[in-house]
This record gives sequence, structure tokens and C-alpha cells, in this order.
Amino acid sequence: MSKKISILDLQQKKANGQPITMLTAYDYPGATLVDEAGVDIILVGDSLAMTVLGHPSTISVTVDEMLHHCKAVARGAKNAFLVGDMPFMSYQVNRTEAVRNAGRFMKEAGMDAIKLEGGREIAKTVRAIVQAGIPVMGHLGLTPQTATKLGGYKVQAKTAEGAQQLLEDALLLQDAGCFSMVLEAVPASVAETVSKQLSIPTIGIGAGPGCDGQVLVFHDVLGLFDRFVPKFAKQYATLRQPMLDAFKTYLAEVEAGTFPTEVHSFTINEQELQIFLYGDQS
Ligand code: KIV
Repeated sequence: MSKKISILDLQQKKANGQPITMLTAYDYPGATLVDEAGVDIILVGDSLAMTVLGHPSTISVTVDEMLHHCKAVARGAKNAFLVGDMPFMSYQVNRTEAVRNAGRFMKEAGMDAIKLEGGREIAKTVRAIVQAGIPVMGHLGLTPQTATKLGGYKVQAKTAEGAQQLLEDALLLQDAGCFSMVLEAVPASVAETVSKQLSIPTIGIGAGPGCDGQVLVFHDVLGLFDRFVPKFAKQYATLRQPMLDAFKTYLAEVEAGTFPTEVHSFTINEQELQIFLYGDQS
């Protein structure tokens, strides 16, 4: 029987050079699937703002909305280590509010850790959350919550100065107590160097094979997100069309009267039926 993944297991994987696997999930059925597949970490990412709630970016999702999805994921996952993504403005206003919000992911939603975006500017916040006893995963490189400030969804750390800053931020976050760190949209060689410099595991997305683990978004893996496919996302299935076909076939069968059949229907005892139709004659 497989057991619940812990931070120690993730550290052990880095030490042994075994890649860590991470996927996002946002609801109960999704969590049961990725957990049964044997993923190490499930991230309830704020990407759900786009993939599940239909927003144009991750900015507008709220703590309460995130918690709603985290709770469903926690009910579906047995073994994976669970990380809840703190949404934009839930940790930036002040440290007290950040710690309180982070605590809600653990107490109310059954998460094992939280993730937040940013480097040196949030290092003190990370320290405060970790000191409160909450494991924190960092997120550097392309940070979608502040994509506007970065000039759009662009690859980061493409200059020597940018790469140096990324490395410094990574070391500061590690020092502040992060147990792991996402590196998003960073040149592969930069991500590999940063990963080697850190004692904590890095999880890459668009950051090449030199990271200690990889993460992809649930809807990208299954080909379910119809707005765009990021360059770094690999579709392992294209399920949108078969799902659409299934719905269309159902509609056609209902309209043609070929569903439901006897197989999908229930019966009543003949005597009870007669009484129902004609009244009790006895
Ligand atoms: O919100 C999310 O899904 C993420 C991953 C892309 C790392 O932050």
C-alpha cells in the first residue's frame, strides 16, 4: 500500500536524483485521478481562475474560491502532498494577514503547504508563515500574478543580470524557509544552475530538464483548455473532442428516443402497477 508523501520524501528524491512529479488539480474527480496515477505533489493552482472559472488571468480569484477547490481536492487525494496556491493580494498587504490566510489553507482546506509568488520582496512574509508552522513553496521566474509588471507572459532571467537576480531570490527564499520552489519560464541552463545551488528541490514548468521535478497544468496535459496551449505544455491526450462527441451523442439519442432504454430504467411489481392504474379492486 502506498503512503502519504511528505517533505522528507521530496528532499530524499532530490538527494537521490529522482525526479519529483507535480500536477495541478482543482476538484474531487481530478484529484482522485492524479493521485491514483501516483503523482508526488498536487498543486491546487490559482491557474484554476482561467482553466476552471473562465477568467482571463489569475488575478481575480479569491481566497474563499481557492479554499472551496482545495477542500474538494483534499477529499479526493490519498497519498499526494497537497499544496494550495495563495491568490493575488492574499499575502501582499501585511504579514499578519498573510499568515492568517495561509493558515486557512491548512485548517479549513486540508492542505499540507501553501505556495506564493515572488522573490526578495516577499522573503520576510515567507519567514513569518514558516515560523507559524506552515510549509511554503516559492515561485520564481514568470510569476503570473504580476505578469503585467513583467511586461506580459514572458520568459524570465534571459540576461546575465536577470539570471543572477533569480539565483539571489532563490537563495533568499531558501534562507527564509521555503521547502521547495517552482521555477517558471526560465532558460533551462539557468534553472539547472539554480537547482544545483539550492539544497531544496526546484519544480520546473518551462524551465527545462535540469530542475529537481516538473509540474504541468491538469487541463494542458489532457488537452482540455481551448484558449491557448503554452509552449512549455505537452498535451498527453486531447480529451476535449471525445468529451464533446459524448455530449452530442447523448443529445442525439434523447432527441431520437433511443435513450433511455430498459437497461437504464426501473420496474414496478405488476400488482402494484394495476392498483396504481385502476385502484385497489380487492
Ligand atoms: O497556478 C498554477 O497552476 C501554477 C503552476 C503553473 C506552477 O502556479
